[in-house]
Amino acid sequence: MTRKFDFLVVGSGIAGISFALKAAPYGKVALLCKTTLDESNTSYAQGGIATVMYEPDNFDKHIEDTLIAGDGLCNLTAVEKVIREAPSQIEELLRWGVDFDKREDGLFDLHREGGHSEHRILHHKDNTGYEIQQSLVREVRNNKNIEVFEYSFAIEILTQHHLGEVVTQHTPGVECYGAYVLDQHTNHIHTFLSKVTLLATGGIGSVYSTTTNPAISTGDGIAMVHRARGVIQDMEFVQFHPTALYHPGERPTYLITEAIRGYGAVLRCKDGREFMQKYDERGSLAPRDIVARAIDNEMKIRGHEFVFLDVTHKNPEETKKHFPNIYKKCLELGIDITKDMIPVSPTQHYLCGGIVVDLNAKTSIDRLYAAGECSCTGLHGANRLASNSLLEAIVYADAAVKDALPHLRDLKFNESVPAWNDEGTSLPEEMVLITQSFREVEQIMSTYVGIVRSNLRLKRAMSRLEILYRETEDLFERSVVSREICELRNVISVAYLIIKHALRRKESRGLHYTIDYPKRAK
Ligand code: FAD
Ligand code: SIN
Repeated sequence: MTRKFDFLVVGSGIAGISFALKAAPYGKVALLCKTTLDESNTSYAQGGIATVMYEPDNFDKHIEDTLIAGDGLCNLTAVEKVIREAPSQIEELLRWGVDFDKREDGLFDLHREGGHSEHRILHHKDNTGYEIQQSLVREVRNNKNIEVFEYSFAIEILTQHHLGEVVTQHTPGVECYGAYVLDQHTNHIHTFLSKVTLLATGGIGSVYSTTTNPAISTGDGIAMVHRARGVIQDMEFVQFHPTALYHPGERPTYLITEAIRGYGAVLRCKDGREFMQKYDERGSLAPRDIVARAIDNEMKIRGHEFVFLDVTHKNPEETKKHFPNIYKKCLELGIDITKDMIPVSPTQHYLCGGIVVDLNAKTSIDRLYAAGECSCTGLHGANRLASNSLLEAIVYADAAVKDALPHLRDLKFNESVPAWNDEGTSLPEEMVLITQSFREVEQIMSTYVGIVRSNLRLKRAMSRLEILYRETEDLFERSVVSREICELRNVISVAYLIIKHALRRKESRGLHYTIDYPKRAK
C-alpha cells in the first residue's frame, strides 16, 4: 500500500515529536516509531535540559563550557545557535505542559553537571526525560493532523536509487521521497511518500554490549543515510557515561545521573579513597570523557569491575527528594544510597557524530532533514557537554520545520517509486544466526572499540566485522524482511562507520583516545 503525507517523521523522541507538533498546523504528518510512542532515549533521560536562566549565568558561559567540552571541534555558529535559542524552545516545552521542578521561591530549581560552570540544568526530579516524553505524547494524541504508526519500522529512505538510477556520494541533487516501512503487525512493507522527511531515530547504544540506551537504539537513521550515500561524520566520538550502576546482566544499564555529582557525590575506589583530583582539578565534576577514562584506568590498575559513587555525606532527606527514582532503584538491589556507596562503571551512552546537517537541520540529501541524536550538528564537537542533547534536539527540530515550510507548496510526491520487491526471498531458516551475529557485533565493539583504542584493536575489529557484513548481506538478499535482520544490518553499518572514522583520526581528542597517538594533534 502507498500512503502520502506532507511530512514523514521517523522517530517519536523529543526531536521527532516536537517537529511533528510544529509541522502539524501546515500539513498531514505521519509519525513513525518502531515500538511504542513512548519508548525512546528521551524517556530515559534523567539529569535534564541545559539552558541559561538566571544571573550570574549567561550565554557566554554556557557557550564557553560547550566549547571546552567539545575539545576544539565544535562548530561555533551551531553552539551559539543552540544556546541562544534555548530559552524560547524551553518556553515551548512549558506550553506543552512539561513540568520542571521549582524552588519554594517560585524560581526553577537548577542542577549542575560535569563541565558546567554554573547551575543551569532544568529537571523534573531525576526523570526529566519521562516527564518530557509523556507531555509531548499527550499533545500528539490530541492532534488530528498527526497520524501515529507504532511498530512501524523504516527500512530505507527512498531516493533516485529506487527509480533505477545509480546514486553515489558525488551524485548531485539526490532527493528523498519518503521511506519503505515495515508494519510489524502484518509484516507488510508499505511505501510512505512524503514531501519532506525528518529522521529522528536516536542513538546507537545497541552496538555495544553495555549501554544506557533502550534496545531501539540501533542507529537506523544513520545506516539508512549511509546506504543512500549521504554524509556521515564524527562517528568515532562515542560517549561513555562514567557512572552507570554496576549490575551485570541488566540491559539497558541503569544510569546514575551526573546531577548527583553536581549535588556533591564523589567518586572513590573500593578502599574508599578519592581519585579524581589525580586526573583533573575539577575532580568528580570534570567533563565526562575525562571522568570515564579515569575510572577505566583505576579499574584496570586495580583489576576491579567498578568504583564507588558516594553520596552518604549528604542530607538523606534531601538526597531522597532530589533523586527519588535512583534511591528506589538502588534500594531494590539492597543499596541504600543515603548509607551505602553506589557501585558504578562507565557504559556506552551517547553518539556525538551522525548524519551531517547544516544550521537548518538539512542533510546532504534534498528534502531530508535530521534532528536529535542521529544527527551531527557540530554542537558537541569531540565530546558532548551534559544535558545539551535534549536541547539540541528541540532547537534543530524547530529549525527543520522553519526551513521546510516555505518550500512545501512547490514539492510534489514522487509517484514513480515502485513497491518493495521481495521476489525470491524466504523466511530465514535460522533466526539464531541473526541474534548470534548481533551479539558478536556488540562483543567486537565493546572489546576493541571502547574508551581506550589502538590501531591494532581497531583493525582487528574491522576484519571481524567484515565477515559479519558479508554473511548478513547475503542473508538479507535471501530473506523476507524482518525488523531483526534490518537492525542487524544497521548495527553493522554503524559499527563499520565508528571504526572507519576512528582509524582515520591520528590523534587523541575528546572522546576518542588511542594509545598510538595519545596527544591532541594541535
Ligand atoms: P530518541 O528519543 O531516542 O527517539 C528515537 C525514536 O526513533 C524512537 O521513537 C524509535 O522508535 C524511533 N526509531 C528508531 N529507528 C527507527 C526505525 N527504523 N523506524 C521507525 N522508528 C525508528 N540528554 C540530555 O540532554 N539530558 C539528560 O539528562 C540525558 N539523560 C540521558 C539518560 C539516559 C539513560 C539516556 C539513554 C540518554 C540521556 N540523554 C540525556 C540523551 C538524550 O536522552 C537523547 O540524546 C535524546 O533523548 C535523543 O532524542 P531523539 O529524539 O534524537 O531520539
Ligand atoms: C545524566 O543525567 O547524567 C545524563 C545527562 C546527559 O546525558 O546529558
